[in-house]
Amino acid sequence: MEKELLLEKIETDIKSQFLNESTGHDYYHIARVAYMARQIAQAEHADAFVCTLAAWVHDIGDYKLNGGVDKSEELIRNFLSEYSLGTSLIDRIVTIVSQVSFSKGKHAESLEAKIVQDADRLDAIGTIGIARAFAYGGSVGHSIYNPIDPTQNTSVQHFYDKLLKLKELMHTRTAIAIAEKRQQFLLQFLEQFYKEWNMENECLN
Ligand code: ADP
Ligand code: NI
Repeated sequence: MEKELLLEKIETDIKSQFLNESTGHDYYHIARVAYMARQIAQAEHADAFVCTLAAWVHDIGDYKLNGGVDKSEELIRNFLSEYSLGTSLIDRIVTIVSQVSFSKGKHAESLEAKIVQDADRLDAIGTIGIARAFAYGGSVGHSIYNPIDPTQNTSVQHFYDKLLKLKELMHTRTAIAIAEKRQQFLLQFLEQFYKEWNMENECLN
């Protein structure tokens, strides 16, 4: 099958499976990662087809969506087997996806794995990253913020545990440039958040 047509069919399939997912791994997250991966791949002269394909399937089988069990490899193989792709391409995609997740802590080896990881991480920062952190935190019962013990597992604490570290972990020059801009939104958000939390209002002096 022609590559663009294949990617279109996969997009439709992923859309029907993930449209109503509400913990931050919804279809729109996956679509942003796929388009971002494609753009970074083009800028970095990597294999844009492989990056885009891996990005479309990167959240299939994630343990957070499967009652705590990681079924990525099995479910991605099942999913891709419907598209009559060669085994070496499927193996390549499975390897890339296994190296992408922050939580699995693996090392991204190929340029394509680095690009998909950069694209996934870019979606965790900036304004959408902020929205996702509170959506995910809410879905697992975390509070917004804990002023008594700020290191408690809250969505604001997640900024310090993970989000503010992601800029330094980007691999490609293209993603580093985007991350630098998005990091500013995280910092600006936190500054204003604490002001509002502490009822500091410049207009009411
Ligand atoms: P990955 O794609 O590396 O598996 P995660 O699945 O851990 O990343 O994260 C998915 C989204 O949920 C991200 O936007 C991330 O910032 C957010 N998230 C993950 N863990 C937490 C948490 N403890 N509190 C708030 N947001 C979280
Ligand atoms: Ni993701």
